[in-house]
Amino acid sequence: MSRRIRFNAFQMNTVGHQSPGLWTHPRDTSHRYTDPEHWTELARLLEAGRFDAVFLADVLGVYDVYQGSVEAALKHAVQVPLNDPLALVPLMAQATEHLGFGVTCALTYEHPYTFARRMSTLDHLTRGRMGWNIVTGYLDSAARNLGLERQLGHDERYDLADEYMEVVGKLWEQSWEDGAVVNDKQRGVYIDPAKVHAIAHEGRYYKVPGIHLCAPPLLRAASRKDC
Ligand SMILES: Cc1cc2nc3c(=O)[nH]c(=O)nc-3n(C[C@H](O)[C@H](O)[C@H](O)COP(=O)(O)O)c2cc1C
Repeated sequence: MSRRIRFNAFQMNTVGHQSPGLWTHPRDTSHRYTDPEHWTELARLLEAGRFDAVFLADVLGVYDVYQGSVEAALKHAVQVPLNDPLALVPLMAQATEHLGFGVTCALTYEHPYTFARRMSTLDHLTRGRMGWNIVTGYLDSAARNLGLERQLGHDERYDLADEYMEVVGKLWEQSWEDGAVVNDKQRGVYIDPAKVHAIAHEGRYYKVPGIHLCAPPLLRAASRKDC
């Protein structure tokens, strides 16, 4: 029996990802990470090479433990400078048709309500090609710059993550029923309010009483049909 192999490229919006020093190779072009073509060329290459997806790693801090300083990381471009991975997705999606995007976002430092909206927006713009590498973060340097003394302990990070997943799950799966977007120009009704529900979430870490701000992907299908 034949088996399907999945290919997934591993990248980061930076110069030096997981191979420190590789950027010094004469043929390495990672210094072009701020150039849109760097990413669209990569996306086209991956799609032509039959890759299923590109996975974008991310962290929200610097490596500052070695010799108690960020100096070595800066000097050798060890995941710094580091730009936002989500911003690459529309660029690469526009340049491809099938390539999927697995993007790392640390849930510990971002509210689920706003994060759910950002992911829904990208889900629409990529026509459903988004994936999420769910992480809780591992750098104290990130925590310190986001209002904490150090990162939360392991178990607490995961307790928070459990609730976070519950909230985004409710926003994505329970807030908008299929068929909520009617887009009826004759009656002047765009959304059927009876099919949109407040999630009424009240937990230990988060309180989200209202509805998800974004319509589900069906909105896209409905509007395309009407064009
Ligand atoms: C393939 C792979 C990719 C990972 N990428 C990231 C990443 O981009 N950002 C991040 O903060 N953590 C990343 N991690 C680390 C995990 O989030 C996690 O900290 C690690 O697996 C240790 O697990 P624990 O936190 O449950 O102890 C990655 C782990 C693996 C196995």
